[in-house]
Amino acid sequence: MNHFNFKNGHLYCENIPVKDIAEKIGTPTYIYSSATINNNLELFDEAFKDYPHLFCYSMKANSNLSILAITAKKGWGIDIVSGGELFRALKAGVDPKKIVYAGVGKTSKELKEAIDADILLINIESEAELEAIDKIGKQSEKEVSVALRINPEIEPETHHNIATGKKGTKFGLSFIRAKEIFLKRANYKNIQIEGLHMHIGSQIVSLKPYEEAVRKMVEFIEELKKEDVPIQWLNIGGGMGITYKEEIPPTPSQLADAILPLIEKTGCKLIIEPGRFIVGNAGILITKVLYTKISEDRNFIIVDAGMNSLVRVALYGAYHEILSEEQKYGTIVADVVGPICENTDFFAKNRELPPFKQGDYLIIMSTGAFSFSMSSNYNSHTRPAEVLIDNSRGYLIKRRESYLDLIQGESISPRLVLPSSLESVDF
Ligand code: LLP
Repeated sequence: MNHFNFKNGHLYCENIPVKDIAEKIGTPTYIYSSATINNNLELFDEAFKDYPHLFCYSMKANSNLSILAITAKKGWGIDIVSGGELFRALKAGVDPKKIVYAGVGKTSKELKEAIDADILLINIESEAELEAIDKIGKQSEKEVSVALRINPEIEPETHHNIATGKKGTKFGLSFIRAKEIFLKRANYKNIQIEGLHMHIGSQIVSLKPYEEAVRKMVEFIEELKKEDVPIQWLNIGGGMGITYKEEIPPTPSQLADAILPLIEKTGCKLIIEPGRFIVGNAGILITKVLYTKISEDRNFIIVDAGMNSLVRVALYGAYHEILSEEQKYGTIVADVVGPICENTDFFAKNRELPPFKQGDYLIIMSTGAFSFSMSSNYNSHTRPAEVLIDNSRGYLIKRRESYLDLIQGESISPRLVLPSSLESVDF
């Protein structure tokens, strides 16, 4: 359910006019609806309630502590991909026994942190990683619980940049390599292989790739059973798509109907790691129109957010709906661009839009996922503030950065500012 609606000609997030937020907090600002997030979590809870499972919200979609607190309050665990994400999850009060950790390039420092924290499962992506974990487990005198991430080699029918379960990508192990590892698992004295993991891609709007991949995983689990290798956990990753434009993605209950009959016979507990589905449509970016410009062949609407605030359009050619905060009559055809010195700094090209004028608030929809979390300080712009709405209350969950934040941790070496006549010589 979407909690961004027009009332009396103005856009509201739950019970608050988004214009009021912009006037108070400034722009650009991300605004999230807690009701939408809770609603999305409940759709999964309801759909899988009769099957033993653990949901791990994939925090790479949006890792603000307040968002993590909402998912944790619902009993959800977290899917992490770095030491920094582990730090955030623990700060938000997530139970370590509900944390799973994927990623092809975990450093030994990050692995040690995860092992010290006693997280549920580390998802192994190579044999070398298994060896590194075994070593750390030995030093820490611990038996580490892991799952093997499999690359099931299927076509998830999504943007090629976010299709991770295909042949040739860096993610996971082939079934053949995984089998070899299982057969010599006794060599890894400080490791318990308890599960299998896959994550086939993101923004998947069809059930077919899930069915196909799960079928392959289940066959593999049956094959392992014959070798007396028990598997407790089957983690099918995330990837469930949302509506940005006209997509009609499957609901969690349709996903459950498609995959549970396949999984039931394995007796495995299920893990699912949705990210975008939980927060994608729960967020908007409110920006201000700085200028409009008419050139010979096109109209430009220049806003105060740029590809540093929201990079999905520049990076993937992603589509985000654009609305005016105030309902307007008529349309213009224009490009919406930001202040960054790159041609790819745009949010829409040649699009039919409301007739924006200078000072208007322009809304970029469906920006709760992979938006703030992928933002940057390019061109030394501060990143947007973040506000969470809960009914009639708003919370500033990330204050706007200051110029001082931009230079945090930087220093000028005294050697660099010596008068040139005193220039030192390196020996
Ligand atoms: N689990 C793993 C291991 C992942 O790598 C990901 C996302 C997820 C779960 C969550 O996937 P989701 O349910 O959110 O689709 N930046 C891109 C998306 C990259 C996804 C990376 N992995 C975008 O803006 O579309």
